[in-house]
Formats: sequence, C-alpha cells, structure tokens
Amino acid sequence: MQEIKHYAEANKQRFLEELFELLRLPSVSADPKFKDDVLKTADYVAEKLSAAGADNVEVCTTAGYPIVYGEKIIDPSKPTVLVYGHYDVQPPDPLELWVSPPFEPTVRDEKIFARGACDDKGQFFMHVKAFELMMQTNTLPCNIKFMIEGEEEVGSDNLGSFVTENKERLKADVVLISDTAMISLETPSLETGLRGLSYLEVEVTGPNRDLHSGVYGGAVANPATILCQLIASLHDANNHITIPGFYDDVEHLSEEDREMLNAAPYDEEEFKKDLAVDELWGEQGYSTIERTGTRPTLEVNGIWGGYIGEGAKTVLPSKASAKISMRLVPNQSSAKITELFIRHFESIAPRYVKVKVTPHHGGEPVVTPTDSIAFKAAEKAIEESFGKKPIPTRGGGSIPIVALFEKELGIKTVLMGFGLDSDNLHSPNEKFDIANYFKGIETIPLFHRYFAELSNK
Ligand code: BES
Ligand code: MN
Ligand code: MN
Repeated sequence: MQEIKHYAEANKQRFLEELFELLRLPSVSADPKFKDDVLKTADYVAEKLSAAGADNVEVCTTAGYPIVYGEKIIDPSKPTVLVYGHYDVQPPDPLELWVSPPFEPTVRDEKIFARGACDDKGQFFMHVKAFELMMQTNTLPCNIKFMIEGEEEVGSDNLGSFVTENKERLKADVVLISDTAMISLETPSLETGLRGLSYLEVEVTGPNRDLHSGVYGGAVANPATILCQLIASLHDANNHITIPGFYDDVEHLSEEDREMLNAAPYDEEEFKKDLAVDELWGEQGYSTIERTGTRPTLEVNGIWGGYIGEGAKTVLPSKASAKISMRLVPNQSSAKITELFIRHFESIAPRYVKVKVTPHHGGEPVVTPTDSIAFKAAEKAIEESFGKKPIPTRGGGSIPIVALFEKELGIKTVLMGFGLDSDNLHSPNEKFDIANYFKGIETIPLFHRYFAELSNK
C-alpha cells in the first residue's frame, strides 16, 4: 500500500487535470443541443479507461447515449467487482447563479466547482484513477469491470435492455457505486438504501383558449387556480400524502432501526441555517433523517401556466401544468404508485377542467445488505483510510439501476459515496472537495483488497 501512496502523491496534479478535462465537457443528457458533447465525453471516458489499463474497452451504442464498458480480468477464479457510474450531468441552469462557469472547473477554497464535479464525474473518475494506481503498482487483487452510462440523469431508459443483453459480460460478485454522499470526512458514512421514484407531469385545461381575465374572469374556472388547489390537496394537515393506498406497502421500521438511523449526527439549527429557512416542514411523527431517508414523499418539481414574461398581462390561461415526483421506499412499487396517482388525480378533478397525467420515468427503492462481504470490505476500507468506522445511513436520492442490477443480474450493490449533501448536486455551484476526491482514490484500492481477501476465506 506504501507504493500506492507514492504513486498517488507523484501523480496528484495529473489526476486533477484529467478530471478537469472531463468536467470541461458539457455532457448534459437532458438537452439535445449537447448531443455531440455527450458523445465526446463517452469517448473520453473510454480513452481514460484504456490508458489506465482496461481491456476490451468499448463505447457500446444504445438507442440513446452510449454505455462505456471496460474490464481487467486477472484470474477468472478471483472475485469480480462491477463499477457503475454515469458520465452525464444535469443541466447547469440557472447560469447566472454560478460564481464561475459550470463547464470551466475552478478551484476555490480547496473545492472543485463545476457541473458534475460530484455527480458523478468526480466520483466515478476516482475509480478510474484508483484502477490506474492498482495497475501501475501491480496490486489489483480481483477482477474489475466498468460500466459508465450516459443517461442516468434522464432515467436510464436504455440501460435495462443493455443489462439483459449483456448478462454474461456483466457477471460480477458485487456492484460498487460512488454516486452518493457521506456525512463528512470527519464522520464517514455508507448509504444502505436509496429511495425509488415515480415521476409524472400533470396538465389542467380549462377554456379552449387564453381569455381576457377581465372579460371572462370570475365566470370560468382558472386552470392555474384549480391546479394549485389539486396539488395542495395532495398533503393533509399533518403533511401525510392523501392518495388512497399510497402508504399501503410502506415498510415500517422497527424501533431499533429507527433509533439506529436517528443516532447519526444531525444538527437541526445548522440545517436550517444552511438553507436559510426559519422552520422545517415534513410528515408529522418523523424526524428529518427519517423524512428524507425512510419515508415516501411527494414534491412539485416545476409549475407553470399563463403569462410569466416581463411585466404584466391580464390573462386567464387555457392551461396550467406541473411536474411532480414521488420518492418511494421499500416495498412500494413505482408502477403501482404511478397508477394510484393517476387514478386519484383524475378522480379529484372538478368538472370545470380536464386533467391529463403523463408518466415519465420511475425506479424502485432499494436497501443494500450490511452483512455481506462487500459491505464489510467497504467498512474496513473506510475505517482504514478515515481512521473511523463508517455510520450506516439511508440516502434520500435515487439510482434506479441498483434495483435493476439486483433483479436482472442477481447482484447486490455497495454504495460507497464520497460526496457531501452540501455539494450542490443539481443546483448552481456544484462542487467536490479535492480532499474527498483523493480520499476516494485512497479508499477504493483498500476496498478491492479487503473484498478479495474476505471472499477467499
Ligand atoms: N447521484 C444521484 C442520486 C443521489 C444523490 C443518491 C445523493 C444519494 C444521494 C443521481 O445522479 C440522481 O440525481 N438521481 C436522480 C434520479 C434519476 C432517475 C434522475 C434523483 O435522485 O433525482
Ligand atoms: Mn448521480
Ligand atoms: Mn444526479
């Protein structure tokens, strides 16, 4: 391991520069105008995997953006780790709120600011660099496969068929993902679950055209008003979700599990201060940690209708819309919840309007095992590099592919993320601390070592 440390130290600057080069590529999967850049990013990832020593590197075409694959099989009788990550990023808007441009990585206060710095370029690239380290120092203790996709931020539509068509190629003993957060460098943690997702769009239509709000207002229902009423009715006074059947399949945690999760350090005053809110909000009867980790939620992600340009326009809009997502927990099913939402929303629509609900994408919730060899290897690796045992936590975000890996390949995942909740994912001024980047590069080879060691017992 001494050798690894020397190599890492000697190549520190290059490891940063290569990440910066990756961050300069605006691989926004949601917006077709970035198509060429997304494709260039896939090529860059493939090039770096090859340069690090991977064999059979391939930019695999799909009906959408390509999936980059690469592997190093040192001995088929040894265990195999499948590393998953995504090279696509969220759109950078609102641009005016960035202190430095999103695709010009800039270091301030020992942090790398750029879209994708943490989610997920900075994090999956740690694996590429850790792999290079192990190759260069002849310390790769197990087989390794990489699968880096380009459509995670838009729902991984083409990943499912890739996985089913490549079952043999993707065979592994564990999936290792760095695309989540830890509490802090002082308090390392490992996420042991992710929420599922059901995302849809609703449209409320009133009159057949926009109307003069003075001539018609008061006589015809305003779709924007109705939409707000409908959305407001989706939570009751205790902030429970009102969709009938919504909680039917929700797993209730034992008092013991609740206590364990609530033992993670959390400072409510700090939390409020950081977000500049005076009071927190949420489902009655649950702590903030539970609300974001183990309870399902419903959020409006965007809402629009009528005139939103400069100045004023007196208009009664013909239509109003909203994008709504629900975060799901075990054992809710994304398809079932989508169905329940549609049925409920249609049933509460008053006769003054018509409503249309269009499902987008979804994903299933997961809980990852904490008694597996792989989880123990991650715990040991973190304990060694951080000097502290990691705390298990439940993550609020979603990575739908994790449930898919389990279903299609029968492989469980370890979520060994090195980001922080404060990294501004999906938000302006996304960042990744340089210290976290190098801590990750240091910890990953230890994971492989312990995973290989414990597997052979
Ligand atoms: N890396 C995130 C998920 C995440 C973030 C998990 C923080 C845990 C902690 C991922 O890229 C993401 O943003 N996922 C989306 C879902 C996807 C289907 C668009 C999400 O959670 O909204
Ligand atoms: Mn991500
Ligand atoms: Mn993301």
